[in-house]
Amino acid sequence: MSDGPEFPISRPSLGSLELAYVFEAVTSGWISSLGSFVTRFEDEFAAFCGTDHAVSVSNGTAALHLALHAHDIGPGDEVIVPDLSFIATANAVLMTGATPVCADIEPGSLCLDPSATASLITQRTRAIVPVHLYGHPAAMAAINRIADDHGLVVIEDAAEAHGAAIGARRVGGWGACGAFSFYANKCLTTGEGGMITTNDADLADRLRHLRDHAMSPDRRYWHDVPGFNYRMTNLQAAIGCGQMARAEAMLVERHRIFAAYQRHLGKRAGLSLNRCAPGVSHAYWMICVEFEGLEASDRDAIAKRMLARGVDTRPYFFPMSEMPFLPDAATPVAHAISKRGLNLPTYTELGDKDIARICAILTEELAATRKASQSLSTASA
Ligand SMILES: Cc1ncc(COP(=O)(O)O)c(C=O)c1O
Repeated sequence: MSDGPEFPISRPSLGSLELAYVFEAVTSGWISSLGSFVTRFEDEFAAFCGTDHAVSVSNGTAALHLALHAHDIGPGDEVIVPDLSFIATANAVLMTGATPVCADIEPGSLCLDPSATASLITQRTRAIVPVHLYGHPAAMAAINRIADDHGLVVIEDAAEAHGAAIGARRVGGWGACGAFSFYANKCLTTGEGGMITTNDADLADRLRHLRDHAMSPDRRYWHDVPGFNYRMTNLQAAIGCGQMARAEAMLVERHRIFAAYQRHLGKRAGLSLNRCAPGVSHAYWMICVEFEGLEASDRDAIAKRMLARGVDTRPYFFPMSEMPFLPDAATPVAHAISKRGLNLPTYTELGDKDIARICAILTEELAATRKASQSLSTASA
Protein backbone atom coordinates (compact mmCIF):
# COMPACT_ATOMS: atom_id res chain seq x y z
CA MET A 1 0.00 0.00 0.00
CA SER A 2 1.23 3.56 -0.70
CA ASP A 3 2.20 5.87 2.13
CA GLY A 4 -0.91 7.82 2.95
CA PRO A 5 -1.94 9.65 6.08
CA GLU A 6 -1.57 7.75 9.37
CA PHE A 7 -5.37 7.70 9.65
CA PRO A 8 -7.03 7.46 6.22
CA ILE A 9 -10.73 8.27 5.94
CA SER A 10 -11.44 4.60 5.34
CA ARG A 11 -9.62 1.33 4.79
CA PRO A 12 -11.06 -1.98 3.58
CA SER A 13 -11.07 -4.76 6.16
CA LEU A 14 -9.79 -7.80 4.27
CA GLY A 15 -8.66 -11.04 5.89
CA SER A 16 -7.32 -14.48 5.08
CA LEU A 17 -10.75 -15.77 4.08
CA GLU A 18 -11.08 -13.21 1.27
CA LEU A 19 -7.61 -14.24 0.07
CA ALA A 20 -8.44 -17.96 0.24
CA TYR A 21 -11.70 -17.47 -1.70
CA VAL A 22 -10.03 -15.35 -4.40
CA PHE A 23 -7.31 -18.00 -4.68
CA GLU A 24 -10.02 -20.64 -5.07
CA ALA A 25 -11.78 -18.60 -7.78
CA VAL A 26 -8.53 -17.99 -9.68
CA THR A 27 -7.39 -21.60 -9.55
CA SER A 28 -10.85 -22.82 -10.60
CA GLY A 29 -10.58 -20.76 -13.78
CA TRP A 30 -14.01 -19.21 -13.14
CA ILE A 31 -12.98 -15.59 -13.03
CA SER A 32 -15.82 -13.92 -14.97
CA SER A 33 -19.46 -13.87 -13.94
CA LEU A 34 -20.11 -17.62 -14.13
CA GLY A 35 -18.89 -19.17 -10.92
CA SER A 36 -20.30 -20.42 -7.67
CA PHE A 37 -19.23 -17.43 -5.55
CA VAL A 38 -21.66 -15.15 -7.42
CA THR A 39 -24.84 -17.01 -6.45
CA ARG A 40 -23.49 -17.76 -3.00
CA PHE A 41 -22.75 -14.07 -2.37
CA GLU A 42 -26.23 -13.15 -3.63
CA ASP A 43 -27.89 -15.67 -1.29
CA GLU A 44 -25.82 -14.60 1.70
CA PHE A 45 -26.39 -10.91 1.07
CA ALA A 46 -30.17 -11.44 0.69
CA ALA A 47 -30.16 -13.27 4.04
CA PHE A 48 -28.15 -10.42 5.62
CA CYS A 49 -30.70 -7.85 4.41
CA GLY A 50 -33.70 -10.07 5.17
CA THR A 51 -34.93 -9.96 1.56
CA ASP A 52 -36.03 -12.85 -0.64
CA HIS A 53 -33.65 -12.01 -3.50
CA ALA A 54 -30.39 -10.23 -4.22
CA VAL A 55 -29.05 -9.62 -7.72
CA SER A 56 -25.34 -8.79 -8.01
CA VAL A 57 -24.10 -6.16 -10.45
CA SER A 58 -20.82 -4.45 -11.32
CA ASN A 59 -21.16 -1.40 -9.03
CA GLY A 60 -23.64 0.67 -7.04
CA THR A 61 -24.36 3.13 -9.85
CA ALA A 62 -25.22 0.20 -12.15
CA ALA A 63 -27.51 -1.14 -9.38
CA LEU A 64 -29.43 2.15 -9.26
CA HIS A 65 -29.55 2.49 -13.04
CA LEU A 66 -30.71 -1.09 -13.59
CA ALA A 67 -33.38 -0.76 -10.89
CA LEU A 68 -34.75 2.43 -12.48
CA HIS A 69 -34.55 0.95 -15.99
CA ALA A 70 -36.34 -2.23 -14.89
CA HIS A 71 -39.22 -0.01 -13.75
CA ASP A 72 -39.39 1.57 -17.23
CA ILE A 73 -38.30 4.97 -15.99
CA GLY A 74 -37.04 7.06 -18.88
CA PRO A 75 -37.27 10.32 -20.83
CA GLY A 76 -40.08 12.61 -19.71
CA ASP A 77 -40.21 11.12 -16.21
CA GLU A 78 -39.19 12.83 -12.97
CA VAL A 79 -37.51 11.06 -10.07
CA ILE A 80 -37.31 12.69 -6.64
CA VAL A 81 -33.93 12.37 -4.93
CA PRO A 82 -32.51 14.01 -1.79
CA ASP A 83 -30.29 16.99 -2.59
CA LEU A 84 -27.53 15.82 -0.23
CA SER A 85 -26.05 12.66 -1.68
CA PHE A 86 -23.13 11.36 -3.69
CA ILE A 87 -23.67 12.39 -7.31
CA ALA A 88 -24.22 8.76 -8.44
CA THR A 89 -27.82 9.00 -7.15
CA ALA A 90 -28.64 11.74 -9.68
CA ASN A 91 -26.38 10.34 -12.40
CA ALA A 92 -28.26 7.03 -12.39
CA VAL A 93 -31.51 8.93 -13.00
CA LEU A 94 -29.90 10.92 -15.81
CA MET A 95 -28.64 7.66 -17.37
CA THR A 96 -32.27 6.61 -17.90
CA GLY A 97 -33.11 9.92 -19.62
CA ALA A 98 -35.36 10.97 -16.72
CA THR A 99 -34.94 14.18 -14.70
CA PRO A 100 -33.73 14.11 -11.09
CA VAL A 101 -35.70 16.52 -8.89
CA CYS A 102 -33.76 17.40 -5.73
CA ALA A 103 -35.73 17.63 -2.49
CA ASP A 104 -34.57 18.94 0.87
CA ILE A 105 -33.35 16.74 3.72
CA GLU A 106 -34.18 16.40 7.40
CA PRO A 107 -31.53 18.01 9.62
CA GLY A 108 -31.35 15.04 12.04
CA SER A 109 -31.04 12.04 9.75
CA LEU A 110 -29.58 14.00 6.79
CA CYS A 111 -32.00 11.96 4.65
CA LEU A 112 -34.88 12.84 2.32
CA ASP A 113 -37.57 14.99 3.98
CA PRO A 114 -40.96 13.30 3.31
CA SER A 115 -42.93 16.56 3.36
CA ALA A 116 -40.50 18.24 0.93
CA THR A 117 -40.87 15.13 -1.26
CA ALA A 118 -44.68 15.34 -1.28
CA SER A 119 -44.57 19.01 -2.30
CA LEU A 120 -42.49 18.21 -5.43
CA ILE A 121 -44.77 15.54 -6.91
CA THR A 122 -46.10 16.42 -10.38
CA GLN A 123 -47.91 14.57 -13.17
CA ARG A 124 -44.50 13.44 -14.41
CA THR A 125 -43.17 12.02 -11.13
CA ARG A 126 -42.60 8.27 -11.41
CA ALA A 127 -40.25 7.32 -8.59
CA ILE A 128 -38.64 8.34 -5.30
CA VAL A 129 -35.03 7.38 -4.51
CA PRO A 130 -34.41 7.94 -0.79
CA VAL A 131 -30.73 7.68 0.21
CA HIS A 132 -29.69 6.21 3.57
CA LEU A 133 -26.98 8.83 3.88
CA TYR A 134 -23.78 8.06 5.75
CA GLY A 135 -25.55 4.95 7.11
CA HIS A 136 -28.71 6.50 8.61
CA PRO A 137 -31.94 5.02 7.18
CA ALA A 138 -34.35 7.43 5.49
CA ALA A 139 -37.90 7.80 6.87
CA MET A 140 -39.14 4.83 4.84
CA ALA A 141 -42.63 4.42 6.36
CA ALA A 142 -43.56 8.03 5.53
CA ILE A 143 -41.92 7.87 2.09
CA ASN A 144 -43.70 4.61 1.23
CA ARG A 145 -47.05 6.15 2.28
CA ILE A 146 -46.50 9.10 -0.07
CA ALA A 147 -45.45 6.74 -2.86
CA ASP A 148 -48.54 4.55 -2.34
CA ASP A 149 -50.84 7.58 -2.40
CA HIS A 150 -49.40 8.69 -5.76
CA GLY A 151 -48.62 5.35 -7.40
CA LEU A 152 -44.83 5.90 -7.35
CA VAL A 153 -41.99 3.40 -7.23
CA VAL A 154 -39.55 3.57 -4.28
CA ILE A 155 -35.95 2.52 -4.94
CA GLU A 156 -33.71 2.74 -1.88
CA ASP A 157 -30.19 4.01 -2.44
CA ALA A 158 -28.59 1.89 0.29
CA ALA A 159 -25.05 2.25 -1.08
CA GLU A 160 -23.81 3.56 2.28
CA ALA A 161 -25.96 1.63 4.73
CA HIS A 162 -25.30 -2.14 4.76
CA GLY A 163 -27.07 -3.52 7.81
CA ALA A 164 -28.88 -0.32 8.87
CA ALA A 165 -32.44 -0.99 10.03
CA ILE A 166 -35.69 0.63 10.98
CA GLY A 167 -37.11 -1.49 13.76
CA ALA A 168 -36.27 -5.07 12.89
CA ARG A 169 -36.33 -4.57 9.13
CA ARG A 170 -33.04 -3.80 7.41
CA VAL A 171 -32.66 -1.32 4.57
CA GLY A 172 -32.95 -2.80 1.11
CA GLY A 173 -36.24 -4.42 2.11
CA TRP A 174 -38.37 -1.28 2.43
CA GLY A 175 -38.85 -0.16 -1.16
CA ALA A 176 -39.58 -2.06 -4.38
CA CYS A 177 -35.84 -2.72 -4.24
CA GLY A 178 -32.61 -1.47 -2.68
CA ALA A 179 -29.33 -0.64 -4.40
CA PHE A 180 -26.02 -1.28 -2.59
CA SER A 181 -22.40 -0.44 -3.41
CA PHE A 182 -19.33 -2.51 -2.51
CA TYR A 183 -16.74 0.13 -3.42
CA ALA A 184 -13.56 -0.15 -1.34
CA ASN A 185 -14.61 2.51 1.18
CA LYS A 186 -18.00 0.93 1.91
CA CYS A 187 -19.00 -1.04 5.06
CA LEU A 188 -18.68 -4.26 3.02
CA THR A 189 -16.54 -4.30 -0.09
CA THR A 190 -15.70 -6.29 -3.19
CA GLY A 191 -13.36 -3.63 -4.60
CA GLU A 192 -15.99 -2.50 -7.09
CA GLY A 193 -19.43 -4.08 -7.00
CA GLY A 194 -23.11 -3.64 -6.37
CA MET A 195 -26.28 -5.50 -5.41
CA ILE A 196 -30.03 -5.03 -5.81
CA THR A 197 -32.20 -6.52 -3.08
CA THR A 198 -35.91 -7.17 -3.48
CA ASN A 199 -38.82 -9.29 -2.28
CA ASP A 200 -40.33 -9.34 -5.78
CA ALA A 201 -39.42 -12.54 -7.66
CA ASP A 202 -40.52 -11.17 -11.06
CA LEU A 203 -38.41 -8.06 -10.58
CA ALA A 204 -35.39 -10.18 -9.59
CA ASP A 205 -35.81 -12.22 -12.81
CA ARG A 206 -36.08 -9.03 -14.89
CA LEU A 207 -32.94 -7.59 -13.25
CA ARG A 208 -30.95 -10.79 -13.91
CA HIS A 209 -32.11 -10.78 -17.52
CA LEU A 210 -31.24 -7.11 -18.12
CA ARG A 211 -27.81 -7.21 -16.42
CA ASP A 212 -26.69 -9.89 -18.91
CA HIS A 213 -27.53 -8.21 -22.24
CA ALA A 214 -31.14 -9.41 -21.85
CA MET A 215 -30.15 -12.74 -23.36
CA SER A 216 -33.07 -15.14 -23.72
CA PRO A 217 -32.77 -17.97 -21.16
CA ASP A 218 -34.17 -20.42 -23.75
CA ARG A 219 -32.42 -19.26 -26.92
CA ARG A 220 -28.71 -18.49 -26.88
CA TYR A 221 -27.70 -15.14 -28.42
CA TRP A 222 -31.31 -14.08 -28.78
CA HIS A 223 -32.09 -10.74 -27.15
CA ASP A 224 -35.70 -9.60 -26.94
CA VAL A 225 -34.87 -6.12 -25.59
CA PRO A 226 -31.66 -4.07 -25.27
CA GLY A 227 -29.73 -4.94 -22.11
CA PHE A 228 -26.47 -4.17 -20.32
CA ASN A 229 -23.30 -5.86 -19.17
CA TYR A 230 -23.68 -5.12 -15.47
CA ARG A 231 -22.47 -8.53 -14.27
CA MET A 232 -20.35 -9.03 -11.14
CA THR A 233 -17.28 -11.23 -11.54
CA ASN A 234 -16.65 -14.39 -9.55
CA LEU A 235 -13.48 -12.70 -8.22
CA GLN A 236 -15.49 -9.81 -6.77
CA ALA A 237 -18.04 -12.24 -5.35
CA ALA A 238 -15.27 -14.33 -3.77
CA ILE A 239 -14.18 -11.26 -1.80
CA GLY A 240 -17.85 -10.61 -1.01
CA CYS A 241 -18.29 -14.11 0.44
CA GLY A 242 -15.25 -13.52 2.63
CA GLN A 243 -16.80 -10.26 3.83
CA MET A 244 -20.15 -11.91 4.57
CA ALA A 245 -18.51 -14.23 7.11
CA ARG A 246 -17.68 -11.10 9.16
CA ALA A 247 -20.54 -8.81 8.12
CA GLU A 248 -22.40 -8.83 11.45
CA ALA A 249 -19.16 -8.47 13.41
CA MET A 250 -18.05 -5.52 11.26
CA LEU A 251 -21.40 -3.81 11.90
CA VAL A 252 -20.82 -4.19 15.65
CA GLU A 253 -17.34 -2.67 15.18
CA ARG A 254 -18.87 0.40 13.54
CA HIS A 255 -21.06 0.89 16.61
CA ARG A 256 -17.96 0.58 18.80
CA ILE A 257 -16.21 3.22 16.68
CA PHE A 258 -19.15 5.62 16.99
CA ALA A 259 -19.32 5.06 20.76
CA ALA A 260 -15.60 5.88 21.05
CA TYR A 261 -15.98 9.12 19.03
CA GLN A 262 -19.03 9.93 21.14
CA ARG A 263 -17.01 9.51 24.37
CA HIS A 264 -14.35 11.94 23.18
CA LEU A 265 -16.42 14.49 21.28
CA GLY A 266 -20.01 14.02 22.44
CA LYS A 267 -19.85 16.67 25.15
CA ARG A 268 -17.77 19.25 23.26
CA ALA A 269 -19.58 22.53 22.76
CA GLY A 270 -19.97 23.75 19.19
CA LEU A 271 -20.03 20.41 17.44
CA SER A 272 -22.38 17.47 17.02
CA LEU A 273 -21.93 13.89 15.86
CA ASN A 274 -24.21 11.53 13.89
CA ARG A 275 -27.75 11.68 15.22
CA CYS A 276 -29.93 8.59 15.24
CA ALA A 277 -33.74 8.65 15.07
CA PRO A 278 -35.61 6.57 17.68
CA GLY A 279 -36.15 2.95 16.65
CA VAL A 280 -33.43 3.15 14.03
CA SER A 281 -30.20 1.17 13.86
CA HIS A 282 -27.42 3.17 12.18
CA ALA A 283 -24.79 1.54 9.95
CA TYR A 284 -22.21 4.32 10.72
CA TRP A 285 -20.65 4.16 7.29
CA MET A 286 -18.98 7.45 8.11
CA ILE A 287 -18.59 9.28 11.37
CA CYS A 288 -20.09 12.73 10.81
CA VAL A 289 -19.19 15.87 12.72
CA GLU A 290 -21.00 19.17 12.22
CA PHE A 291 -19.55 22.48 13.44
CA GLU A 292 -21.81 25.22 14.71
CA GLY A 293 -21.06 28.83 13.81
CA LEU A 294 -18.17 28.14 11.44
CA GLU A 295 -17.87 29.05 7.76
CA ALA A 296 -17.19 26.29 5.21
CA SER A 297 -13.76 27.88 4.71
CA ASP A 298 -12.98 27.34 8.44
CA ARG A 299 -14.09 23.72 8.19
CA ASP A 300 -11.87 23.23 5.15
CA ALA A 301 -8.94 24.86 6.99
CA ILE A 302 -9.45 22.45 9.92
CA ALA A 303 -9.46 19.53 7.48
CA LYS A 304 -6.22 20.75 5.88
CA ARG A 305 -4.46 21.11 9.22
CA MET A 306 -5.71 17.70 10.37
CA LEU A 307 -4.33 16.14 7.19
CA ALA A 308 -0.95 17.75 7.88
CA ARG A 309 -1.07 15.96 11.24
CA GLY A 310 -1.91 12.59 9.68
CA VAL A 311 -5.73 12.57 9.87
CA ASP A 312 -7.65 12.40 6.62
CA THR A 313 -11.23 13.71 6.54
CA ARG A 314 -13.89 14.44 3.91
CA PRO A 315 -16.23 17.42 3.66
CA TYR A 316 -19.94 16.56 3.36
CA PHE A 317 -21.19 16.25 -0.21
CA PHE A 318 -22.22 19.43 -2.02
CA PRO A 319 -25.96 19.67 -2.67
CA MET A 320 -26.33 17.91 -6.03
CA SER A 321 -28.51 20.77 -7.32
CA GLU A 322 -25.40 22.99 -7.24
CA MET A 323 -23.87 20.95 -10.07
CA PRO A 324 -24.03 22.82 -13.38
CA PHE A 325 -25.90 19.99 -15.14
CA LEU A 326 -28.74 19.69 -12.61
CA PRO A 327 -31.75 21.96 -12.06
CA ASP A 328 -31.51 24.38 -9.10
CA ALA A 329 -33.51 23.45 -6.02
CA ALA A 330 -34.88 25.33 -3.02
CA THR A 331 -33.20 23.16 -0.38
CA PRO A 332 -32.03 25.41 2.49
CA VAL A 333 -31.35 22.57 4.95
CA ALA A 334 -29.14 20.64 2.50
CA HIS A 335 -27.28 23.86 1.62
CA ALA A 336 -26.66 24.85 5.25
CA ILE A 337 -25.63 21.39 6.47
CA SER A 338 -23.42 20.64 3.49
CA LYS A 339 -21.16 23.55 4.53
CA ARG A 340 -20.65 22.54 8.12
CA GLY A 341 -20.12 18.78 7.97
CA LEU A 342 -16.96 16.72 7.96
CA ASN A 343 -16.49 12.94 7.87
CA LEU A 344 -13.86 11.48 10.19
CA PRO A 345 -11.86 8.25 9.75
CA THR A 346 -14.18 5.25 10.02
CA TYR A 347 -12.90 1.70 9.51
CA THR A 348 -12.93 -1.58 11.39
CA GLU A 349 -9.27 -1.58 12.39
CA LEU A 350 -9.43 1.85 14.11
CA GLY A 351 -8.60 1.25 17.77
CA ASP A 352 -9.89 3.26 20.71
CA LYS A 353 -6.44 4.88 21.16
CA ASP A 354 -6.43 5.91 17.48
CA ILE A 355 -9.82 7.52 17.94
CA ALA A 356 -8.66 9.32 21.08
CA ARG A 357 -5.74 10.77 19.07
CA ILE A 358 -7.91 11.79 16.12
CA CYS A 359 -10.33 13.52 18.51
CA ALA A 360 -7.51 15.31 20.33
CA ILE A 361 -6.18 16.66 17.01
CA LEU A 362 -9.66 17.73 15.92
CA THR A 363 -10.32 19.45 19.26
CA GLU A 364 -7.03 21.36 19.10
CA GLU A 365 -7.54 22.48 15.52
CA LEU A 366 -11.13 23.49 16.18
CA ALA A 367 -10.06 25.56 19.21
CA ALA A 368 -7.28 27.23 17.19
CA THR A 369 -9.72 28.07 14.39
CA ARG A 370 -12.30 29.51 16.78
CA LYS A 371 -9.61 31.61 18.47
CA ALA A 372 -8.34 32.92 15.14
CA SER A 373 -11.81 33.85 13.90
CA GLN A 374 -12.63 35.50 17.26
CA SER A 375 -9.51 37.67 17.17
CA LEU A 376 -10.29 38.53 13.55
CA SER A 377 -13.80 39.70 14.48
CA THR A 378 -12.47 41.65 17.53
CA ALA A 379 -9.88 43.35 15.31
CA SER A 380 -12.49 44.37 12.75
CA ALA A 381 -15.01 45.59 15.43
C1 LIG B 1 -25.21 7.36 -1.96
C2 LIG B 1 -24.45 6.61 -3.03
N1 LIG B 1 -25.13 6.16 -4.10
C3 LIG B 1 -24.52 5.49 -5.08
C4 LIG B 1 -23.16 5.23 -5.03
C5 LIG B 1 -22.52 4.56 -6.20
O1 LIG B 1 -21.84 3.40 -5.90
P1 LIG B 1 -20.59 2.93 -6.83
O2 LIG B 1 -19.45 3.84 -6.50
O3 LIG B 1 -20.37 1.52 -6.40
O4 LIG B 1 -21.02 3.04 -8.23
C6 LIG B 1 -22.43 5.66 -3.91
C7 LIG B 1 -21.01 5.40 -3.73
O5 LIG B 1 -20.04 5.46 -4.14
C8 LIG B 1 -23.08 6.40 -2.91
O6 LIG B 1 -22.40 6.86 -1.84
